Amino acid sequence: MTTSKPKVLATRHFPPDVEKRLAANFDALLNPQDRLYDGPALAKAAAGYAGIMCAAGDPLSAATIEALPDSVKMIATFSVGYEHVDVAAAAKRGIKVSNTPDVLTDATADIALLCLLGAARRAHEGTTMLRTHNWVGWEPTQLMGTHVTGKRLGILGMGRIGQAVADRARAFRMTIHYNNRSRLPADLEKGATFHANPDDMLPHCDFLSINAPLTPQTRKWVNAERIAKMPKGAVVVNTARGGVVDDEALIAALKSGRLAAAGIDVFDGEPKIHQGYYDLQNAFLLPHMGSATVETRNAMGFKALDNLEAFLLNGKTPPDLVKAS
Ligand code: DGY
Repeated sequence: MTTSKPKVLATRHFPPDVEKRLAANFDALLNPQDRLYDGPALAKAAAGYAGIMCAAGDPLSAATIEALPDSVKMIATFSVGYEHVDVAAAAKRGIKVSNTPDVLTDATADIALLCLLGAARRAHEGTTMLRTHNWVGWEPTQLMGTHVTGKRLGILGMGRIGQAVADRARAFRMTIHYNNRSRLPADLEKGATFHANPDDMLPHCDFLSINAPLTPQTRKWVNAERIAKMPKGAVVVNTARGGVVDDEALIAALKSGRLAAAGIDVFDGEPKIHQGYYDLQNAFLLPHMGSATVETRNAMGFKALDNLEAFLLNGKTPPDLVKAS
């Protein structure tokens, strides 16, 4: 007797080894052209599917989830962030949601340091000068940036990624300040200064790294009022979610010189980013590459599959179950 495999809809084109395992263990509908689904198209395509493997940016809003067919029992997102999935709406329909924590911590923290250094040391201007054949040679005053070693770094959100950023920054002898929902135990805090109120941290931020998830509380958290509390000439780094920053305020501060520079990997409304960023020479910009290593993207895919397999094949609770907060 042959038992049919559960059906899983892949909303995106995932790495080859991930799709191989997806197709081996499930009756999978892949998306080799990587066509983007809008909400109604996704709900329609899910007819008859038990699982949806989705990714950051997919429109799994309350409206989409309400429109999903009854066949859908689980949504596994290929991401640690899950603000694109309305978890409360999924819970109401009894649909399990999982994410991929831990496996992208190091890759994302590496990109945060790249953004921090790229912004502080004017990497965008340097590479542009060279590639446009405008480098006239070494000059004593050329492209002088902001010194990193020994400065103060404030981290908004000291979860796994925030802690990994702190570990890397300690190699630059940076002094770490942080805000988190709760204070870390001493072995994880490693001498960093905790600020129960994130606003109190801002005057200590020569550098500010955003590592907090996007929630109603963190939306546009970096605004004009908070930028004014930071030291003049500070540097802002965002590798979490673009929505945590008020783009207008950040762009104005970068233009006026209130902030020296910003290193940004994530944008509100990406890929349609605020036009103002394109004109800023002191913004080091990357296209949401935090987790983009072969090893990390495979690990994310395998983790999403571990969750789908646990629930849809083995009837167990997905190990990375996400709950509505
Ligand atoms: C995530 O996992 O949330 C990342 O932003 C995708 O790289």
